[in-house]
Amino acid sequence: MLTAMKKPVPPEVFKKIQYLRQAIESHNYNYYVLDTPVISDAEFDAMFRDLLALEREYPELLTPDSPTQRVGAPALSAFEAVQHRIPMLSLSNAFDEHAVMEFDRRVREGLEIGTVTYAVEPKLDGAAISLIYKDGVLIQGATRGDGTRGEDVTENIRTVRSIPLKLYGESVPDFLEVRGEIHMLKADFIRLNRKQRERGEKLFMNARNAAAGSLRQLDSKMTAQRPLSFFAYGAAEIKGCPLPESHSETMRLLDRLKIPVCPERDVVEGVKGLLSYYRRMSAAREALPYDMDGVVYKVNDLRQQAVLGFVARAPRFALAHKFPAEEALTEVEEITVQVGRTGTLTPVARLKPVFVGGVTVTNTTLHNEDEVHRKDVRAGDTVRVRRAGDVIPEVAGVVIEKRPAETQVFEMPQTCPVCRSQVVRLENESAARCTGGLYCPAQVKGAVFHFASRRAMDIEGLGEKLISQLIDRQVIESVADLYRLTVEVLSGLERMAEKSAQNLVNAIEKSKKTTLSRFIYALGIRNVGEATAKDLAQHFGNLEALMASDQDGLQMVPEVGPIVAKSLAVFFSETHNREMIRRLRAAGVTWPEGEPEKAQTLPLTGLTFVLTGTLSRMTREQAKEKISAAGGKVSGSVSKKTDYVVAGVDPGRKLEKAKKLGITVLDEMGVLKLLDGSRE
Ligand code: IVH
Repeated sequence: MLTAMKKPVPPEVFKKIQYLRQAIESHNYNYYVLDTPVISDAEFDAMFRDLLALEREYPELLTPDSPTQRVGAPALSAFEAVQHRIPMLSLSNAFDEHAVMEFDRRVREGLEIGTVTYAVEPKLDGAAISLIYKDGVLIQGATRGDGTRGEDVTENIRTVRSIPLKLYGESVPDFLEVRGEIHMLKADFIRLNRKQRERGEKLFMNARNAAAGSLRQLDSKMTAQRPLSFFAYGAAEIKGCPLPESHSETMRLLDRLKIPVCPERDVVEGVKGLLSYYRRMSAAREALPYDMDGVVYKVNDLRQQAVLGFVARAPRFALAHKFPAEEALTEVEEITVQVGRTGTLTPVARLKPVFVGGVTVTNTTLHNEDEVHRKDVRAGDTVRVRRAGDVIPEVAGVVIEKRPAETQVFEMPQTCPVCRSQVVRLENESAARCTGGLYCPAQVKGAVFHFASRRAMDIEGLGEKLISQLIDRQVIESVADLYRLTVEVLSGLERMAEKSAQNLVNAIEKSKKTTLSRFIYALGIRNVGEATAKDLAQHFGNLEALMASDQDGLQMVPEVGPIVAKSLAVFFSETHNREMIRRLRAAGVTWPEGEPEKAQTLPLTGLTFVLTGTLSRMTREQAKEKISAAGGKVSGSVSKKTDYVVAGVDPGRKLEKAKKLGITVLDEMGVLKLLDGSRE
């Protein structure tokens, strides 16, 4: 019988395939591990296509360690069970420094030595896996399972680009079992969830769930679509090569084999070294690209590890020192509505107090009506509250399964909860506003509070509670009345001794001498922040000229656009505003007039920023506010006048344009650093 003749494999094809595989994997390593690609995507794709074509022509040369096999295999109906050769244990936890000192004491006693050398590394927040390499080739990937038996997720693991299918170098161990954490980088997580939302699919609660869920997909083609990363944190077994003597040497060996290891690892001496590493990593945490929930301390010397051994299911030689949780569950007691200085109605979730990210949170802003509806937060709901770093706490989401039977969808009140005036929401605006103006006590309170604030008229001692009393008891009706307050009137108020009354009267008196820009800012005109007030003062030099200017004249001021010009014109056209200004001046409020003010002194003054992409630590709105508060301008489009472009995840065309124009591009940390520096 005749059989089809197999095409002989020319030796140069064999070589070419070998070359392409090695080159592709090395580019994968540069891209996914080192984050510094050295060739373009197009060049990479071309190599990949060449390899695919050759493998199709010579299928007998196809091996599971080929990079073309990273796209996923046929779906499984269930995972096979895997018996771990060496159990996958967990770690003992410490939540405070005292527990760390106790750990170090036990280790020193166990080893009978004075100081211990520790290997220290981040505790990654993902899912543990075991990888087995035989003769340098990845043959198995398994989940932790119950520690003794896990699941065979080899096909899924093959799709993780940063995990080598073949170990690098000439001398690879005959056998190697690597242990480490599958996780998802913060930026990848944000991007993935955005994609999920666009496709109308379920959002992931956090990066850890997204990573663990993706790892356990029965269809590895699905896993291949998910941006998974990996860091090794140890080796369970090594055979057939010189054995490392310490944990740090093990990590170096893995690194040499091009298995990804966390760059933030270190070796330190004694408990002092441990605690200073903890503090260092707490501070660095926000800026790092991956999530971690603490740090791990391990006795570095492997012989010393063996002497210490294990208790129950955890090693005596290692400890996880956890960070305070950044997310916690609590209940929404009610959703109230606050009225701000400009009449904006802000829904606020009143929470059962919860300790999260190192502080107790009792309420969080829900921003506006749309936001409440988007998250569908209701009174009675159990919610996830998140506070990362020093970012304002927020409701990250509702735990729908815990929703009680009878809850009501939040509705914005039709009338102001403070003055009962009508509430309106203009088209194109996210905010609902009370129309009460200065008839609304909440708006007056806000206006007075703003007027007295440090960067405005700077009246020391005039706080929120006192302002509330003054307005509720109708001692004052507007800011102009402040200058009529006397010690007698003030000392009649609650918690107001004569001494503090006198201090306050003095502070009010002192505030009369001010500057034009402070005064303009203090008026609380919509859309006129501190920087704009300075621009206006500088441009007009005196208040009369400003008040007399029409909208065109106002727009002559650099950075004043039609919206600000309109706000100003509307404000100065109101008789009661003109009257208030007249009374303030009559009461003796003065400033050096006539000449334009000195150059502005805010730290970011004169700098124009453009934001693009999604930021992870703050909303764009918050970023805008922070930049404006420091005197910077935020513009919508990139031009030659732009000083900085702040690029978040998935930046748009603005980034390309910035690069073309040679404008400095900052990432989120960069702008925060700039702002931070500006606070000093
Ligand atoms: S060592 C015998 N190092 O934390 C100790 N674990 O609670 C084995 N983890 O299941 C673990 N980062 O998934 C170690 N740098 C790190 C780690 C780490 C995260 C996870 C791991 C393990 C769990 C232990």
